[in-house]
Amino acid sequence: MERSSFSRVGIILATAGSAVGLGNVWRFPFMAGQNGGAAFIFLYFGCILLLGIPGMISEFVIGRHGQSNAFRAYDTIAPHRHWRFVGYLGILTSTIILGFYAVVAGWCLQYLYASLRGELSGDVGYVQQYFQEFSSDPIKPCLWAIAFIGMTHVVIVKGVKGGIERASKILMPLLLVLLVVIVVASCLLPGAMEGVRFLLLPDFSKVSANVLLEALGQAFFSLSLGTACLCTYASYYSKETDLVAAAGQIALLDTVIAILAGLMIFPAAFSVGVEPDSGPSLIFITLPNVFQQAFAGLPAVGYIISVMFYALLVFAALTSTISMHEIGTAFFHEEMHLPRKKAAWVLTTVCSVLAIGCSLSIGAVDGLRIMGHTLLDFCDFLTAQLMLPAGAFLTSILLGWFAARQTLRNEFTNNGTLHEKLFPIWLCCVRYVVPICILLIFLHQFGVI
Ligand code: PHE
Repeated sequence: MERSSFSRVGIILATAGSAVGLGNVWRFPFMAGQNGGAAFIFLYFGCILLLGIPGMISEFVIGRHGQSNAFRAYDTIAPHRHWRFVGYLGILTSTIILGFYAVVAGWCLQYLYASLRGELSGDVGYVQQYFQEFSSDPIKPCLWAIAFIGMTHVVIVKGVKGGIERASKILMPLLLVLLVVIVVASCLLPGAMEGVRFLLLPDFSKVSANVLLEALGQAFFSLSLGTACLCTYASYYSKETDLVAAAGQIALLDTVIAILAGLMIFPAAFSVGVEPDSGPSLIFITLPNVFQQAFAGLPAVGYIISVMFYALLVFAALTSTISMHEIGTAFFHEEMHLPRKKAAWVLTTVCSVLAIGCSLSIGAVDGLRIMGHTLLDFCDFLTAQLMLPAGAFLTSILLGWFAARQTLRNEFTNNGTLHEKLFPIWLCCVRYVVPICILLIFLHQFGVI
């Protein structure tokens, strides 16, 4: 996006838009389901508070200080030390994420289309089979994924002024309201309380090193942390923006939406007898059942809610894919000196190829596996659990140990006018807590300790 194309409120909204997406509504519930429910959520909160919020502030500090694209911003904060490679890592990570994210966003487009046509009604078996058949089709999901990347491309090329900003102001609150309505509907289904219990009562016997890494990865993925997305957006913040408050508000909103998504999915899953650990298909199998069963007496209301829900999910996913696409586009445009349109095409092409591979690996082409995982799962694992934490780790080391303390203080406190007392706490997190925790989780995961 061109510099100054957002208003001040708009840019904070855009950052929230990047954070809130399929990570909250699709990935969070199935991660929680596979990792023991409440115990996972407990660890997730810990990661958000201890590592996520300080990490977000770090990217904000680098971005606003640099007032430029992410690679230059990393250079500016600690000159002559070649830290721009962290920016490069961010581009690679967000490109891979866009590749598999578009596949799931494409599923949402298909579900929007199907719910408009009223195709999603039937019993649990039917809905399960519908997802199975659709997702393993060789053509349809690929086309939807490419369509989604195409939508992102258009926004990136045409610019985002006005439209997206104005739409965000209306659609984000609407998503929140709709989530609450669906949560209530889901909790009123017979046998739903079992799902609420699963989500709220922790069973720590399920916690292993792996669960900890999954919680860490989910926290970073959901906050868009570790890809330099936040850094890029923060370069558009004004000198008056309160970075600490912005990080706190966005993290809170993001977490509330994730929890609501959990409360929407699990009661329904338990009620209709879908296994909570059924993985990436979870929301696509449980939700059509909620729309049908909860609104059985009022089918028109069920229809409208289902259409609106998938439309809002598509919109939430789009505001996230825009942020992923923008980093790569800015790189090819500003650093490789391609015209912006061409730069966007490079990214669109690379991501489309990756998306096709990820989509086919789900069922149509069985051999598309890496280390036993489908390409989609592998890209998800590689980015969320390795590349994002690595990006956040390197950012903390850069800021904590190589950047000038006075620069950090000026950015954090807006030249001494805000949060003076919090500065040493944040610095301590950035120097010690964040890198040490990430390192320990890595070492534990790989069996070194
Ligand atoms: N945070 C986004 C979501 O929750 C995903 C994302 C990850 C966006 C990394 C940008 C960068 O859906």
